[in-house]
Amino acid sequence: MLFVLIIILYKGSSKWIWFFMKKIFRGGSIVTANGIQTADLLIIEDKIDSIGTDLYDDEAEIIDCIGMIIMPGGVEPHAHFSLPMFDTISSDNHYTGHRAAAFGGSTTVLDFTSQLPGQSLQASIANSIDQASKSAAVDYSFHINVTDFNADIEKEIRTLSLQGFTSLKVFTAYNDTLRLLDEEIMSILEVARDHGLVVMIHAEDGDEIENLVSKALSDRHHEPIWHARTRPSHGEVNAGKRVIDMVEESDAILYIVHISTSGLLKQLVSGRRRGVRVMGETCPQYLFFTEENLLQSDGGKYVCSPPLRSLQDNTDLWEGLSDGSLQTVGTDHCPFFANGKLPIEYDGDQVSIPGKELGDDDFTKIPNGLPVIEHRMALLWTFGVSTGKLSVERFVELVSTNPAKIFGLYPRKGALMPGSDADIVLWDPNKKHTISVRSSHMRTDHDLWEGVEVEGMPKQVYLRGRLLVKNNNWFGQPGYGQLLKRDGDFQFV
Ligand code: URP
Ligand code: ZN
Ligand code: ZN
Repeated sequence: MLFVLIIILYKGSSKWIWFFMKKIFRGGSIVTANGIQTADLLIIEDKIDSIGTDLYDDEAEIIDCIGMIIMPGGVEPHAHFSLPMFDTISSDNHYTGHRAAAFGGSTTVLDFTSQLPGQSLQASIANSIDQASKSAAVDYSFHINVTDFNADIEKEIRTLSLQGFTSLKVFTAYNDTLRLLDEEIMSILEVARDHGLVVMIHAEDGDEIENLVSKALSDRHHEPIWHARTRPSHGEVNAGKRVIDMVEESDAILYIVHISTSGLLKQLVSGRRRGVRVMGETCPQYLFFTEENLLQSDGGKYVCSPPLRSLQDNTDLWEGLSDGSLQTVGTDHCPFFANGKLPIEYDGDQVSIPGKELGDDDFTKIPNGLPVIEHRMALLWTFGVSTGKLSVERFVELVSTNPAKIFGLYPRKGALMPGSDADIVLWDPNKKHTISVRSSHMRTDHDLWEGVEVEGMPKQVYLRGRLLVKNNNWFGQPGYGQLLKRDGDFQFV
C-alpha cells in the first residue's frame, strides 16, 4: 500500500525512476584480485559505472558500506544440480541450488551438461538449458561433459566456443559409463586446443577402481570406508599425470577439477614449471575432512569422488592455495539426502529424494557427492583469510576472478570495473554464524559443517544491480538468472 502511494507521489519524476537504477555503495573497502581501496562505487542499472572517492549523484540510492568489504560476486566453477546418479538425482535443482549459492555470495554458477550414450552434445545442452532456464536465480552456464566420443561429436566440439561454451569435462574413471579412453582424451585435447576450449579432467584410475571394487565386494566389504579404499590416492596422481603429459604433448589447456591429493598438486606444480598450461581446483571438503569421516556411523554422508584423503593432504592443499599453486576453489556441490526416506520441510513442502541410504548395504550404491555450495566463501574466509593463510585479494581471486577468467566470463564477471556486471557482494568480515542444516538453504537433510562457527558472511548480494540477499532474507526469484554466453577472452592463469 505504502509502496503504491510513494509511486503515485513520485509519478512522472525521473528522480524516482533513477533511484531504482542507480546505487552508490558508499564508504566500503573495495577488494578485487588486484588490490584494496577505500572508495565509492556507482552502479547504473545492471552495470558498474564508476569507482572513485566521494562519488555524488542525487538520483542514486545510497548504500552505507562502512566497515564492509565490497567484492565481485562469487563465481562458482563446479556444481551439479538435478544430476542423475545411480537410482536418484542430486537434491538441489537450479532454483534451490542457485539460491543457496547466492546466500553464500556466489552470483554465477557453472554446472555440467551430462551427455547420455549416443546423444549429441546439442541435445544434451538443449536439455540442460530447458531444465535450468525457468528456475535459474543466478547467472549460469554449463561445462560440456563428453562421455561418448566419435567423429560427429568432434565436429560438434568445434562449434561450441562460437555458441558461448568454452569448457569440456572428461573422465578417466567410471568405466563403462562416463570414462573416455586415453586416445579419445588426446583427440579432445587437440580439437579443444584448436577451437578455444579448456578441457577439465576428473582424474582417477578407472581400471584400478574396478579391480579393487570387485575384490572388496567379493571379500564382503560393504561399508562406506571401502569407497575410499577402492579409490586410492596414487590412482588420482597417476591418472592426472598421464593427462598432464598428454597436455604437454598436445599444447592444449587443462583444468584439473576437485584435486584431493598432495600428489596431484605436486604434478600440477611440476607441469606448470615445465610450461604446461595446466590449472587446478580444490574444494572445501578436501581442505576440511579426511578418510576417517567415512568410518563414522554416518560415513555415507562423506562419500564423494575422488574420496576424502588424509590430514597431510588437507594441509598441503591449504598450502597450495596460499602459495599460488592452485587457481580456484570450487565446490563440486552435488547433494544427496542422508536419509531420503524421511521427508524434510523445505519451502513449506514435504520433500524426500532418495539419497545415501541407497548404499546402506553396499558402498558402491551410495550416491557420490556432498552439499557445500552455500559455505564455499564463508569457510574459505574464516579458515583462510582470518587465519592469515590467504590475503583478501587472493580470496577474491580464488572464488571469483580466476574462475571468471578461466571460463571466458572476465571482465563481465569476477571484476569490479566500469562496464562489468553489477554483481556485488557486501561482505561483513565480522558477522558470526554457526552453520546448521536448520539455517542453510541447500535442499538436503544434513550439513557436513553442522556446528562450525564462521566469521565473515555476505550482508547483501546483488546480481546485475538487483538485490538477491539482504541480512539473510531472500529477494531473488526463479528465472532471473541468465544463461551466459561465455565469449570473454579465455585466460590461462
Ligand atoms: O562425488 C562427486 N564428485 N560427484 C559429482 C560428480 C563428479 O565427479 O564431479
Ligand atoms: Zn568429477
Ligand atoms: Zn563434479
